[in-house]
Amino acid sequence: MEDFSDILLDWYARCGRDLPWRRTRDPYRIWLSEVILQQTRVAQGLDYYRRFVERFPDVRVLAAASEDEVLKLWQGLGYYSRARNLHAAARQVVARFGGVFPAEVEAVRSLRGVGDYTAAAICSAAWNVPCAVVDGNVYRVLARLFDLETPIDTAAGKRAFAELAQRLLDRERPGLYNQAIMDFGALQCTPAQPQCGDCPFGVRCLARAAGSIAARPVKRGRTQTRDRWFNYLHVTCGERTVLCRRGAGDIWQGLYEFPMVETPAAAEFGDLIATEPFRRWVGPSWHLVRSVAMPRHQLSHQTLHATFYRIEVPELTPDAAAAAVSASALGEYAVPRLLDRYLTSCQM
Ligand code: ADE
Repeated sequence: MEDFSDILLDWYARCGRDLPWRRTRDPYRIWLSEVILQQTRVAQGLDYYRRFVERFPDVRVLAAASEDEVLKLWQGLGYYSRARNLHAAARQVVARFGGVFPAEVEAVRSLRGVGDYTAAAICSAAWNVPCAVVDGNVYRVLARLFDLETPIDTAAGKRAFAELAQRLLDRERPGLYNQAIMDFGALQCTPAQPQCGDCPFGVRCLARAAGSIAARPVKRGRTQTRDRWFNYLHVTCGERTVLCRRGAGDIWQGLYEFPMVETPAAAEFGDLIATEPFRRWVGPSWHLVRSVAMPRHQLSHQTLHATFYRIEVPELTPDAAAAAVSASALGEYAVPRLLDRYLTSCQM
């Protein structure tokens, strides 16, 4: 389709969104926006973008911050490894590039958390480097326009789409083109109920002609989700509350939560008393104030079943005493959304 980019850019000029990261050529800010938008909608990401830019106006300021502070500002966005990688990458920019955001695709690609998509998005937007972005929007738009049946979740499919995207790229205006195709996928060629009625590609869209819009793009397999049962011990001793920082190798690394007993299936309070975490964090003498079963909490690959047990103790164990914080300071810690919901429900 030789006029593909003309049609797309004409559409973008009429219908594209005016977004703050499109008004800058600062690679740092563009990078920040792309990391925020990786798994977050624009409407939700905007406020976070503004707050990050305000608090961390350049990459050196971000590098100098603590991971706790970055995670706290990220709270509510989910996929926290993005925030940890962002922070680590800022430190890489300082250590390896003297605090100046690199301008070559390979150097950008070498930063923590930056994959092909993000490197292409940053370099095209900041320096007009001719590299096509391929994200969920691009898969959908191309699969429909060319009625492609190649599954997008296979290595061969990814390669084929990346090649096609690179061939279609407007080499004179790659930055504009990349923003345009993302907006086209987000606003016009949407996953459900695409606006085919006023689509500028009209009869050129092969999936529309074939009646296969709803079946594009093709995915081979759904990813499996697993169930987990989290039993939280909300231990209080007067004004003190026990809070733990999550370690590496699992969800929510670096975020704070109450001591927790994970069980292979739904458990009752009585099942927890003999466990090691209970003895370690609660100790021999306690009073169960109440239990709160939370609604199922859905992550991308996990369904969490969480119950919170509010337990008052007359005395904290040594480990609990070392980890305890004042209840009024709880809001200063970055916590998973699940915990935030529970804490909010406690205040009502
Ligand atoms: N999603 C990911 N990157 C984006 C961008 N630059 N503009 C709008 N939506 C996006």
